[in-house]
Amino acid sequence: MPRRFLVTGGAGYVGSHLVAALCDRGDTAVVLDNFHIGHRRAVPDGVRTIDADLSNIAAVDDALSDGPWDAVFHFAALSQVGESMREPLRYLLENGGNGMRLIDACVRHGVGRFVLSSTAALFNAAGDDPIPEDAPIDPNSAYGESKWMIERALRWASQVHGLRYACLRYFNAAGADPQGRLGEDHRPETHLMPLAIDAALGRRPPLVVFGTDYPTRDGTCVRDYIHVTDLAAAHLLAFEAMEHGDIRWNLGNGAGYSVLEVLQAVERVSGRPVPHVLAERRPGDAASLVASAEPALKAGWQPRYAALDDIVRTAFQWRLAHPNGYGN
Ligand code: UFG
Repeated sequence: MPRRFLVTGGAGYVGSHLVAALCDRGDTAVVLDNFHIGHRRAVPDGVRTIDADLSNIAAVDDALSDGPWDAVFHFAALSQVGESMREPLRYLLENGGNGMRLIDACVRHGVGRFVLSSTAALFNAAGDDPIPEDAPIDPNSAYGESKWMIERALRWASQVHGLRYACLRYFNAAGADPQGRLGEDHRPETHLMPLAIDAALGRRPPLVVFGTDYPTRDGTCVRDYIHVTDLAAAHLLAFEAMEHGDIRWNLGNGAGYSVLEVLQAVERVSGRPVPHVLAERRPGDAASLVASAEPALKAGWQPRYAALDDIVRTAFQWRLAHPNGYGN
């Protein structure tokens, strides 16, 4: 049966891939986005958009009053770990504050299910061990802290008001829609994979490797890269699974790759060297973040693009076809 969802941040990177997945299965998605970070061109034709900021309570109320909604998917957020270490209070206010206002509005409008785009930045693990959902929460950045604020608010909304929630902690979202409809385009771009691809293509200066003295196999940070289309699929599954209770899922492939290993993958896929320079650590970076995604896998989640080279390939193809991203 077709369903109807409000997607905040649906014009952003992960949000737009979810909107495409919803449209593909015949559901109705309404996108609420301020389009500061998101791109109008990332929203499929025919999808209704509401041009509003989450700090505008009247606009959020107005959007939610046009229910009923099967769920609200909440993506809209600032998402740069490094930036959050320069402007921590902005992150706590915009991500944490707006997230809580949205939850409050959902409770008032009788929304039954809330799916949060959360993050591995809740964890500050040492060593290479995959991180399960019940690992200690210890955000190493204001970004991670801001998402934890929302997770905590959801617990209270569930306990007191019965709002069902799913907190989906992404490890490193990467790649692009395998059908070539969507990709990654942040302004400014700060993420490793698109920067490495553009460096290989000669479109950007050499990639700066942040830190070579971490306690990892080659001294650079280790991350668990998860394809954005697999993340979108996990959202659809979470929506079904939350019928049985609240959900906290770590979403990753359970395999960590160092920064230098990602550069090697970009070299394999592109057939070009990735010019790079070695530099100091970036504040806020954890040494190693690898997911144990057991509950999601048990619920039937099956990542289709788990191989690092497959993730890089979809990202590379999109960058190649869209030298200016969603711009002209
Ligand atoms: N890196 C570089 N050079 C760059 C960019 C990144 O060396 O120019 C390194 C980073 O130091 C880090 C790794 O590459 O070790 C990945 O960095 P990204 O900026 O691509 O991603 P982050 O791990 O910082 O953060 C991402 C999302 C967050 C999310 C986090 C969870 O942006 O929203 O993954 O792991 F919380």
